[in-house]
Amino acid sequence: MATNNKKLQAWVDEKAALCQPDNIVWCDGSDKEWDDMWDIMVKGGTARKLNEEKRPNSYHVNSIPADVARVEDRTYICSAEEKDAGPTNNWFEPSEMRVKMDGMFKGCMKGRTMYVIPFSMGPIGSDIAQIGVELSDSPYVVTNMHIMARVGNAVLDVLGEDGDFVPCLHSVGVPLADGEKSEPWPCNPDNRYIVHYPETREIWSFGSGYGGNALLGKKCFALRIASTMGRDEGWMAEHMLILKLTNPEGDVKFVAGAFPSACGKTNLAMLTPTIPGWKVETIGDDIAWMKFGEDGQLYAINPEAGFFGVAPGTGMDTNANAMLSMESNAIFTNVAETDDGDVWWEEMGEAPAHLIDWKGNDWTPESDTPSSHPNARFTARASQCPVMASEWEDPKGVPISAILFGGRRASVVPLATEALDWNHGTFLGTIIASEMTAAAFGAIGQLRRDPMAMLPFCGYNMADYWGHWLKMGQTKGAKMPNVYYVNWFRKNEAGKFMWPGFGENSRVLKWVFERCAGTADAIETAIGNMPTLDGIDFSGLDMSDEDIANLMRVDTEGWLSELDGIEEYYATFGDHLPAELTKQVQDLRKRLESSQKAVA
Ligand code: OXD
Ligand code: MN
Repeated sequence: MATNNKKLQAWVDEKAALCQPDNIVWCDGSDKEWDDMWDIMVKGGTARKLNEEKRPNSYHVNSIPADVARVEDRTYICSAEEKDAGPTNNWFEPSEMRVKMDGMFKGCMKGRTMYVIPFSMGPIGSDIAQIGVELSDSPYVVTNMHIMARVGNAVLDVLGEDGDFVPCLHSVGVPLADGEKSEPWPCNPDNRYIVHYPETREIWSFGSGYGGNALLGKKCFALRIASTMGRDEGWMAEHMLILKLTNPEGDVKFVAGAFPSACGKTNLAMLTPTIPGWKVETIGDDIAWMKFGEDGQLYAINPEAGFFGVAPGTGMDTNANAMLSMESNAIFTNVAETDDGDVWWEEMGEAPAHLIDWKGNDWTPESDTPSSHPNARFTARASQCPVMASEWEDPKGVPISAILFGGRRASVVPLATEALDWNHGTFLGTIIASEMTAAAFGAIGQLRRDPMAMLPFCGYNMADYWGHWLKMGQTKGAKMPNVYYVNWFRKNEAGKFMWPGFGENSRVLKWVFERCAGTADAIETAIGNMPTLDGIDFSGLDMSDEDIANLMRVDTEGWLSELDGIEEYYATFGDHLPAELTKQVQDLRKRLESSQKAVA
């Protein structure tokens, strides 16, 4: 179906004239379209259909090794003024970038089809939802968008004749000469550009087929562009999971949580509690959009409709609900294939005697390379997750009682701390730092600052974004959530993780719930409110008293030296840094110094 929306039609015409595809197809999100796309990809050597008995209606795709992750160094925020992109983003002057982009996109879809993908981020028609339209020459993008967003004619209906949408243009960047056949994984690794124009709310992505660079509804729209929309309109777009927590009495609280990429957000969002009577259900695993409700609380929706999760490390023992979500109708990227046409990756379970690895080579448990890329992904429908909360598609969203922040920290940061108030909570969000993983290109293991887990995703000046957080808390009638800083990744002197994590994180969630309900005490310390000795139930865990004490300890010296690093980091934001955060540092230093004196 074409559209009666003049702006959309004009934009599609204009971009088709620029990109010069052989055909234009308007996507309707139907099962037939899904089959047609896979037909093209199977015939073209891009995809293999998995064993219908083992993994119905599911497909396996391998990219080339050069196109396996987000490319942060090729990601640009082209705001009119450089200061609005801030020191953590790559900035490029927008009119110059437009000239460059026009040059790159000119004729880039020759020999290919341009797919027009109308999508809704969030339940169609929700006040918190937004509409986008992606133009892409990749059938892999079409099928992934089927899962990750709500695609099809219902979106065009909501758009109507004069509705607005975020235009998202994507090309793999490899035009074909007459009669030339496409590579199975076309991409242009030497010419990748992931470009955002925040003022005009546009996204242009060139040269990569990888999810985070090519599924433009996700990081590009739902975080980078949406964060600027939130700034302008008084709401929040955050890199957060959302979960529903029910206590044994049947009382419910909704919790959001920001953790840097590959810190277990998906596992936490779907966790199976180990403590009796408690229930965790999922609203979302990666992104939260939050707006004030009439009662002054923040209401959150998950703008996505699926999970684009890291496969390695996911198994029935670590995240059974994710495994069950991908039993059918799923896409697997850069994993290994078993001899009977199913998929396998590291830590899924016992390794089969033989596999074809993600690069197409024979693999056995003796091989010295992993069978799957560490950032291999599954794309699975949220509707198939056995623990989706009944509210997950509620258009009004769910009221958020608590926000968790966390990162991978081998030292200093204790298991759980509660912020003293919203401003202190904002401060805790700004100081998240994490050891790097494979989700982005870079040095694995190195510590990097990742405020609110938004470092690669904030579409404007990071310090202005902190200012926006503080401002949200000052909104008249606002009832802000409690904020917690958690760390599942603390190591002991032997270099071993002290906390078992996974389902045991329910013990920390219980404390968070009880603090929000006003039924648990806390001890006020220099770094915030900490659980009392019996606040977190450690019973039945195989942990030494020493490890427990270390996990709950306020490491005064550690925090003091942490503060030096924070001040240095803050200084890079110059006069954009909100004065309140300077005050938070000073206050924390004072509290730490006086507790040091008290001990001495
Ligand atoms: C993701 C990421 O893919 O954060 O969600 O990298
Ligand atoms: Mn993410």
